[in-house]
Amino acid sequence: MRKMSVLLVAFAWFSPVPPQFVEAAASSSSPNIKVLVAYHSVTGHTEKMAKGVVTGAQAVPRTTVVLKSVGEVTAADLFSADALIVGSPVYWSNMAGQVKTFFDDWQFKFGVFPEFKMRDKVGAAFTTGGQAASGKELTMLTILAAMLGNQMIVVGGGGAFGASATTEGDSPGIDDKELAGAKELGRRVAEVTWRVKRGRAE
Ligand SMILES: Cc1cc2nc3c(=O)[nH]c(=O)nc-3n(C[C@H](O)[C@H](O)[C@H](O)COP(=O)(O)O)c2cc1C
Repeated sequence: MRKMSVLLVAFAWFSPVPPQFVEAAASSSSPNIKVLVAYHSVTGHTEKMAKGVVTGAQAVPRTTVVLKSVGEVTAADLFSADALIVGSPVYWSNMAGQVKTFFDDWQFKFGVFPEFKMRDKVGAAFTTGGQAASGKELTMLTILAAMLGNQMIVVGGGGAFGASATTEGDSPGIDDKELAGAKELGRRVAEVTWRVKRGRAE
């Protein structure tokens, strides 16, 4: 028992998650959290941000991360996740149709309502847009709105409403700062998810 405590303290020392969360998680019957990162991308920018989000979430110990395009996500992926981070390119100042279809399919394919099967899962958003000010925040807000409608717990990170990048004109591609924002988002979501899981265990 004493050896176990020493191990836990040593683990907590190197962990970005406060020790009390690690300890609670270690005593839980399901000691990992699962973060699902779902995205749509045609020219690869949003996919690159998605990989940054994954890296950030994986930096939090005992976090399993699944990366899928929105079209590949199954009911099992969705309902087994403790957190969901959704990324979309800006299409006409809004989320892409494929991402909207993904949310609509929660009901058409997965039957989330009336039980609110996504209730209390942590949710967050990220986006890429060609122009600096042509709908990125609105895109993230529409993603967060769909999550709020499903009684999820939404958080920001990497930016007020999530992580974002400008991909065209004077700012082509994803630069290091934008990628760092994506990592920050992934990490924050995983850390908040641990807090929620610990609260549930109490
Ligand atoms: C149909 C369509 C509509 C778009 N509308 C916008 C827009 O309103 N605002 C914007 O900033 N970029 C817009 N873009 C540019 C994309 O958001 C941008 O290139 C994005 O980074 C592409 O992501 P991807 O590489 O992951 O496919 C649009 C692109 C397409 C194809």
